[in-house]
Amino acid sequence: MSELLDRISELKNSLNAVILAHNYQTGEIQDMADFCGDSLGLSVEAAKTEADVIVFCGVQFMAETAAILSPDKTVLLPDRFAGCPMADMITAEQLRELKGKHPGALVVCYVNSSAEVKAESDYCCTSSNAVEVVKSLPADKEIIFVPDKNLGSFVKERTGRNIVLWPGYCPTHINITVDDIKKAKEEYPDAIVMSHPECNKQVRDVSDELLSTGQMLSYVKNNAAKRYIVGTEEGIIHALKKENPEAEYICPTERAICPNMKKITLDKVLLSLEEMCERITVEFNVAEKAQRALNRMIEILPKN
Ligand code: 13P
Ligand code: SF4
Repeated sequence: MSELLDRISELKNSLNAVILAHNYQTGEIQDMADFCGDSLGLSVEAAKTEADVIVFCGVQFMAETAAILSPDKTVLLPDRFAGCPMADMITAEQLRELKGKHPGALVVCYVNSSAEVKAESDYCCTSSNAVEVVKSLPADKEIIFVPDKNLGSFVKERTGRNIVLWPGYCPTHINITVDDIKKAKEEYPDAIVMSHPECNKQVRDVSDELLSTGQMLSYVKNNAAKRYIVGTEEGIIHALKKENPEAEYICPTERAICPNMKKITLDKVLLSLEEMCERITVEFNVAEKAQRALNRMIEILPKN
């Protein structure tokens, strides 16, 4: 293991590479990365890095986002099959059709979407800033929100805005059920329930806090509570323990695992640096339009 880490570190230095990892990655990937974060934090990091190579330990749309924001860098995804099923739930063609049915509406797309869908959108958002992004739009405008119906309805509840939803969802977050949360609450009545807005409404309604993964980390850092029930992908628990090791974190179900996030391993990171693969690129015309939507998102700071 330490040989593997040494080799990764050597190659990283010689290639002037930076390793970015999402909070759902395995503990060993998080510990090895130069920067761990939520989708927004990683996008910001990808946009400002001075490295020549970005190794993205996450899923395709994240690496694509990095390639759009840093077109002059080489972006590598250590497993090209690490996709996001939610991002695949809407195509650019389907979005164009929906826009045709709602002329004049503004389109906000969750960053968990393809570059083509971003290119068809006015604004991008992540779970950290979705509410702020929507609040920043003119009050009389209809808003199309794609692809996550759960994040979309959370935003609708928080803003009271006229939002058209698309029926996409995260297969991992919908594995967390209201019964899982209730059972965990019975066992640990003193625990604070923090859930991700990708969870379904029933789960959201029994949660104390609805937070992106980055917001969960800030929350436990600034909170005196000693126990948390965590309604999101289990990888975040590794990061939470590092942020606040004094507290206990309860995962309400064993099914809260994103199999795509877990495709990235240390061996694959090493191979990707050795062979400079899998390179993620986005066609210029698509990237140019998608970048507009992403830049508008980055300009709107989240309230962590
Ligand atoms: P955040 O880390 O931005 O909360 O995103 C959650 C997610 O599901 C990413 O795929
Ligand atoms: Fe996609 Fe859900 Fe996995 Fe995030 S956790 S990458 S939204 S499938």
